[in-house]
Amino acid sequence: MIKQVVEISLGERSYPIYIGDNILHGFVDKFKDKFNAVKAAVITNSTVWDLYGGRLTESLTAGAIDYELILVPDGEKAKSLSVAGQVYGGLIKKGFERKDVIVALGGGVVGDLAGFVAATYERGVPFVQVPTTLLAQVDSSVGGKVAVNHELGKNMIGAFYQPAFVYIDVSTLNTLPGKEFAGGMAEVIKYAFIKGEPLLGLIQEKKRAILGKETGVLSEMVRICCSIKGEIVEKDERDAGVRAYLNYGHTLGHAIESTTRYDYSHGQAVAVGMVFAARLSQRLGMVGEDVVELHKRVISAYGLPVTVSGAGAVELVQVMERDKKRTGGEHVFVLLDGVGNPVVKNIDEDTLVSVLSEFLREV
Ligand code: NAD
Ligand code: GLY
Repeated sequence: MIKQVVEISLGERSYPIYIGDNILHGFVDKFKDKFNAVKAAVITNSTVWDLYGGRLTESLTAGAIDYELILVPDGEKAKSLSVAGQVYGGLIKKGFERKDVIVALGGGVVGDLAGFVAATYERGVPFVQVPTTLLAQVDSSVGGKVAVNHELGKNMIGAFYQPAFVYIDVSTLNTLPGKEFAGGMAEVIKYAFIKGEPLLGLIQEKKRAILGKETGVLSEMVRICCSIKGEIVEKDERDAGVRAYLNYGHTLGHAIESTTRYDYSHGQAVAVGMVFAARLSQRLGMVGEDVVELHKRVISAYGLPVTVSGAGAVELVQVMERDKKRTGGEHVFVLLDGVGNPVVKNIDEDTLVSVLSEFLREV
């Protein structure tokens, strides 16, 4: 049963996010509420197809919606122009038209790729996100950033293209590998620190239920995250202002991913990045030591690291130098002026190297 609905208000691009437990069999009802179409292209990979494809497509068939299955490779490599090209080919051969609907079933990779294809195929066809990883449920399926990677940079080719609706079945998280779940929790923790209560309390008090995948608590957690992201996207859909708050922990995080050659996953790197952002905020007098300690407690509780080994301060700063967000000789960080109050600050290189060197020596 659908337990929660979050509305994203963006004028004519507004859409609902449906959240529930074991709801894939009811997908076609929302599909038919929204579209007159009788045809869908389900884009997914074989991992997700084997687990959830049957439930989703049985629902479409029960509602007399024809579907074409388009399988893409599993993993980040699917977010490429060449895979997008293969998907366009599949759609053309199957006679897919502008009135038909793309359904993205999977994690952030499938969602970003399928959304990119939807934004560009025949100059734009409607699409629906059915996210099946925690990261996709709380972050990538909401807000309309769709993209593929270029060999010279991640997410370099893309668009802002909102889905027609998002359909989240939290019971799909039961099959998600632990490392992927923890990676999604890093983004949940990010929302908790940039927004504060009630999410920060929920993830501290309900840790056992969350890690035990109790669907009532998961639905509530996902709902709060989607509404926090929605609120930010409604203010800054095209990422020219407050949407930067969603990069909390990401400035150092990206440098850690790249310096450790992806030994640290995105979620692990962002987790360390958040502890560092808290430390930097503390050094600048914006939060107390208690906030740094709280970061360490919450992040460790979800199996994520609070520091990084195998990367030095100078090396990390050099990588951050190349970060596209760097401006005018300074480094741009999202910091906290108190929990729930993010601010964007330029940090000069000397301060950054000094606080980072100290941070890397902390236990
Ligand atoms: P992913 O899509 O690669 O999924 C992780 C793994 O889990 C894959 O192997 C996938 O097949 C598998 N999987 C998916 N659902 C499953 C399930 N229910 N049970 C078992 N296995 C399952 O990774 P991700 O972390 O979901 O997404 C990462 C991508 O998201 C990156 O490309 C990143 O750039 C993008 N992203 C986009 C935005 C945005 O706003 N568009 C935001 C954050 C991240
Ligand atoms: N994940 C960052 C954003 O959507 O802006």
